[in-house]
Amino acid sequence: DLNADLFGQILTSPLLNASGVHCQTKEELNDLAHTSNLGAMVTKSATLQARAGNPNPRYYDLKNGSINSMGLPNLGYDFYLDYVLQEQTKPTILSVAALSAADAITLLKDLQASDYQGPTELNLSCPNIVGEPQLAYDFEATDRVLKEVFSFYTKPLGVKLPPYFDLVHFDKIAAVLNKYPLTHVNTINSVGNGLWVDIEQEQVVTKAKGGFGGLGGTMVLPTALANVRALRQRLHDSIKVLGTGGVTSGEDVFAHILCGADLVSVGTQVMKEGLSVYDRLAEELQAIMAHKGYQSLADFRGKLKEL
Ligand code: DHB
Repeated sequence: DLNADLFGQILTSPLLNASGVHCQTKEELNDLAHTSNLGAMVTKSATLQARAGNPNPRYYDLKNGSINSMGLPNLGYDFYLDYVLQEQTKPTILSVAALSAADAITLLKDLQASDYQGPTELNLSCPNIVGEPQLAYDFEATDRVLKEVFSFYTKPLGVKLPPYFDLVHFDKIAAVLNKYPLTHVNTINSVGNGLWVDIEQEQVVTKAKGGFGGLGGTMVLPTALANVRALRQRLHDSIKVLGTGGVTSGEDVFAHILCGADLVSVGTQVMKEGLSVYDRLAEELQAIMAHKGYQSLADFRGKLKEL
């Protein structure tokens, strides 16, 4: 079977949507709730105030993936909190983002005081807010925010991380994260600030930020696998690793789990193929497991061999 575990809740599939994809409006969230082989769902990162996001075009399909400069368009924290409290029918992770450390504290204090007891993910890595760095690239700032958050926050909380590209950076972020009672890390967010060139038009393909934008899809798969593996090797066992990035096939899901992912998210491929992708991926993953004689995800999770 494909059973997986979301912090104590049994899921019938390890597959998630990547936050940002098909999870902004009530209609989209309800679509996810009714999507077969989507084990659990994640909401669009919510900010304290609703945001329209960056100007269009802000998502562009590439042969090997996608580039986006969405700018955190979302209906606001209150809407998503209401959704998980009142409308939720499938296990859901509430994703929240903050434009400043102070906003993160305000938002999480409100969440702590609310009736919500489910899992939350703090996005430390949006690459598309003009003038704002990705917080998790600043290890000291990340430590300061988490220290303050966990001085009052007692509910299940994980973080969404940007990709790292240096082994010493993996050591540094893991040392910070291991200090706190995090439920999970979700890795990776988009590879920030790529650029695509339309040769015919001799111009960029998205409007905001002069065309710089976050990359997703097949081109980021090796980076995603490296981040899942490197963090799984460094984090306490109590911190789950959710793998996100570059999944287009059952083999890619298998690879994420072999690197140590507890759950695996799909973003760009949902944009390209629609929500039926989850049935295809589950079928392909099951075929690989049957071929190899594996009964459950635990039979191979984290068991990647080295040479
Ligand atoms: C956005 C946020 C992200 O965290 C990301 O990876 C990509 C896009 C955004 O809304 O701009």
